[in-house]
Amino acid sequence: KKERTLALVKPDVVTKIGDVLELIYSSNLIVTKAKMTKLTWSQAADFYAEHQSKPFFNNLVQFMSSGPVVAMELMGDEAMSTWRRLLGPTDSAVAQREAPQSARARFGTDGVKNVGHGSDSLAAAARELEFFFPSTIGHGPLNTA
Ligand code: CMP
Repeated sequence: KKERTLALVKPDVVTKIGDVLELIYSSNLIVTKAKMTKLTWSQAADFYAEHQSKPFFNNLVQFMSSGPVVAMELMGDEAMSTWRRLLGPTDSAVAQREAPQSARARFGTDGVKNVGHGSDSLAAAARELEFFFPSTIGHGPLNTA
């Protein structure tokens, strides 16, 4: 089933974006939107609001607002699970043991500096894509009505 998902490249690997793109090119997914941006602490906290009660929340938000990220919309069959499979297990050390070809095994450092984020449900994908690529109906230069 054709899906869209958010692929978020985290600050630890934005300078290696080409390696991440090569992984995407090796799959059946295409990049349909892309944007480099730097999140404020509060934007990162909003993005990860579902984790606000977790012990790692502050670390996560601090890291995600520490440098630029690249947000991409990926499209293709099973885009959501495909991108998460390309990333591998959340913790890079686990990824090295269980999925040595994965992005987190190859480029990640630990459970926080772990290369990327992928939406984990279609509802999350819709919300997270809207976060980085807000729909502009009724706004902007092409919608002056
Ligand atoms: P991500 O896909 O961005 O979504 C939530 C993030 O929380 C996850 O990737 C990890 O980077 C981070 N995370 C999850 N579990 C832990 C943990 N036990 N310790 C630190 N960070 C974590």
